[in-house]
Amino acid sequence: MLNLGVLASGRGSNFQAIIDAINSGYLKAEIKVLITDNPNAYAIERARRHGIEYLIMLPKDYPSKDDYYRAIAEELKRRGVDLVILAGFMRVVKRPLIDAYPMRIMNIHPALLPSFPGLHGQKQAVDYGVKISGCTVHFVDEGVDTGPIIIQAAVPVYDDDTEESLSERILRQEHRIFPYAIRLFAEGRLSVEGRIVRIKDHPKEESHFTNPPVEGI
Ligand code: GRF
Repeated sequence: MLNLGVLASGRGSNFQAIIDAINSGYLKAEIKVLITDNPNAYAIERARRHGIEYLIMLPKDYPSKDDYYRAIAEELKRRGVDLVILAGFMRVVKRPLIDAYPMRIMNIHPALLPSFPGLHGQKQAVDYGVKISGCTVHFVDEGVDTGPIIIQAAVPVYDDDTEESLSERILRQEHRIFPYAIRLFAEGRLSVEGRIVRIKDHPKEESHFTNPPVEGI
């Protein structure tokens, strides 16, 4: 059984999607702990409701960022966590955690990386005027949203979209691809060579869409 540790700072809808995927039997894993840096995170309520242990760990309680991430890594290791899930954890994780879990930390980002990294990926996409955006699950390295990409989902961006309307459309895909990425890991189907994530036996489908749809050809 794959043991997960989830780090989240807010609402926790991705955390919930992972809980639901486990409860339905889609994902064979167990969430050992939720760690949050925000005492008001709604993710805490979700953990309570599902009987998942949670820890509130605040950076200000540690002498340095490195100490903070070292402490997080220790809590995760103590609980036998194999894979760390960043589900809306609004911080750039530092070396001590990355070294403790090399290519064992997954993050979800609300844009098609390497476009629009950092904060407000959805707003960046709307402001830029791209016609397609989406979301990305990737392994975490020391950069900001730079690690090897596992899976991406594309959605159309309409000219009357707002940050909110695009965020909702992207979020629906986040809730599909994050559990799936974790499932691929749980099934031992992911390997990483440099920047490339290889997925064993993955179906190749030439699915495509354009936005706007091409009329007449
Ligand atoms: C999501 O948009 C995710 O892509 C980003 O932070 C947001 C978290 O949402 N990293 P939630 O807390 O999972 O609802």
